[in-house]
Amino acid sequence: MRGRLIALEGIDGCGKSTQARILAERLGAVSTFEPGATALGKSLRALLLDRQEAPVSTRAEALLMAADRAQHVTDVIVPALESGRWVVTDRYSPSTLAYQGFGRGLDREALEALVGWATAGLRPDLTVLFDVPVLVAATRRSGEDDRMEAEGEAFLQRVADGYLTLAAESAERWLVVDATGTVEAIAETIWEAVEALDGLDGLPNPGSGGIR
Ligand code: TYD
Repeated sequence: MRGRLIALEGIDGCGKSTQARILAERLGAVSTFEPGATALGKSLRALLLDRQEAPVSTRAEALLMAADRAQHVTDVIVPALESGRWVVTDRYSPSTLAYQGFGRGLDREALEALVGWATAGLRPDLTVLFDVPVLVAATRRSGEDDRMEAEGEAFLQRVADGYLTLAAESAERWLVVDATGTVEAIAETIWEAVEALDGLDGLPNPGSGGIR
């Protein structure tokens, strides 16, 4: 049986990485992320997120994100799904639509075509959006801002609003969680949505320790 793909999305500092760990562990899923989960992706990630001397154009940024995703799908996601594993990915195509589309202002239709082509049309079974006020997310981030975080509050607000638009458009495949809640409460909300995907039958090792 083919595994399922769950994507976690949200602005920087929304807490999705913690939940990715918890969910992947509970599911016995492959836990992965974008950008940078493959050998090629590591180089792309540095180009994309390190502060560059020469500015990266917005179109180049979108293409590099898509290149990272194409390699990720081919090397990591599809092989795992085909072997029957579930996959939890920290970011996927909606990140490009939210950041490069709503954030940077690139054309939505063009980006849809780009990410559709990069992923050969592979869509998540469920996308979880971590909804958190931009200012709350900012206080949770640690370390120096990367190139994207350095864009500032107005940019991140456009990204956050864009995510909500995307979620509302495909409500049957998205779960929006209030990411200001406790780690435990958020984990439980996500787990309920995962169980509802197609009942316990669809989960690996039904009835074994991983499922409460
Ligand atoms: P990362 O350090 O992985 O941030 P986070 O922990 O918040 O996921 O950095 C990823 C950054 O890249 C983040 O600011 C979002 C941005 N990004 C895009 O702009 N477009 C994309 O398609 C992807 C995958 C990420």
